[in-house]
Amino acid sequence: MRAFVHDTAAARVVFAPGAVDRVPDEADRLGAGRVLLIAEGGRPDGEALAEALGPRVVARWSEVVMHVPAPVADRAAQVAMDRRADLLVSLGGGSATGLAKAVALRTGVPILAIPTTYAGSEMTPIWGQTADARKTTGRDPRVLPRVVVYDPRLTLGLPARVAAGSGMNALAHAVEGLYSAGASPVTALLADEAVRALASALPRVVAAPTDLDARGEALYGAWLAGWVLGTAGMGVHHKVCHVLGGTWNLPHADVHSAVLPYAAAFNASAAPEAMARLANALGADPGDAPGALWDLARAVGAATSLAPLGFPADAVALATDLVVAAAPDNPRPVDQTGVTELLHAALRGQRPAATVGIHQASLGGPGHRGGYS
Ligand SMILES: NC(=O)c1ccc[n+]([C@@H]2O[C@H](COP(=O)([O-])OP(=O)(O)OC[C@H]3O[C@@H](n4cnc5c(N)ncnc54)[C@H](O)[C@@H]3O)[C@@H](O)[C@H]2O)c1
Repeated sequence: MRAFVHDTAAARVVFAPGAVDRVPDEADRLGAGRVLLIAEGGRPDGEALAEALGPRVVARWSEVVMHVPAPVADRAAQVAMDRRADLLVSLGGGSATGLAKAVALRTGVPILAIPTTYAGSEMTPIWGQTADARKTTGRDPRVLPRVVVYDPRLTLGLPARVAAGSGMNALAHAVEGLYSAGASPVTALLADEAVRALASALPRVVAAPTDLDARGEALYGAWLAGWVLGTAGMGVHHKVCHVLGGTWNLPHADVHSAVLPYAAAFNASAAPEAMARLANALGADPGDAPGALWDLARAVGAATSLAPLGFPADAVALATDLVVAAAPDNPRPVDQTGVTELLHAALRGQRPAATVGIHQASLGGPGHRGGYS
């Protein structure tokens, strides 16, 4: 068995249809009386939450921008300090959670997060922000929410197309958690279950967006996947996505969906056990995990290529330099040739070729390397 260090990043989790009604009690439980409520403007559930929290809300922030521009975080943090907030309540997708984290990083004020997509950021001590067209990420225990409230009902209005991409984003956390440096037997079990839940739920969410059971299972998978990301860490896939998102301002979840099958193919030969495990959780042939990810993305209408997302082919060289310079911890060394191939494959968007299964791979049999078509 592989040696490991298991260092759990954990928040209190309240998960139920209708759980948002418990937020005032959860705030009281934390001893908070001065809430900065962060929710995108125009959200009806934001209005309802503000009403439920009543006089605890000392300020509201509605400017939520993808990839957390640093000046927005600076201004929101100033409001938190001016109003002497003692709790940040964020309601929304990864962008709202991300802004709350950037404020927590600047002020030390704790977070209660209510996620409404499958981004999973609420379960990680990882912050990210963008300045001068570069995304910076880091880890800090202060940004890990103290409480996470998951209410599948809040996700019923998430459009099928957004849900599909967001679900692939969640899947990416679980996939990288199977081979990342911080993987342990526990995170592997969580990742297996996250993959199983997401692969089962996403087609049902897309077919019937108001199916509360399907929404609940997708959110459950997203919770586990976010936990895996926060505990086990990440590899080349997340680094590629951060570079593309931060530098070319591409839509975060769609980029994850378009890159994931090719990142898995990139790592296939270096992480055969993780790939076999992933294939098993996806119900695919042992050597076909990257292809099965592509099939799932296609089946749910999520992105399978970077080209339609606005990533230009002439940007591959710069993107490759940025990814290689960031030197992500990854089972296969991250070099110019490999990343260039990965990005071109993600631009072409064709189904990755299957490789031989783990038994032949571990025997060093022919056809062992992962493949792009
Ligand atoms: N730090 C981490 O651990 C981590 C992990 C994952 C993602 N992230 C960050 O999260 C951000 C992306 O998050 P995202 O993909 O959730 O995008 P997002 O928060 O921007 O949401 C995507 C879209 O969905 C809408 N939306 C959200 N919830 C909805 C709902 N319930 N009903 C209807 N519409 C809804 C939003 O208004 C937005 O238009 C990126 O900045 C990414 O870097 C960070």
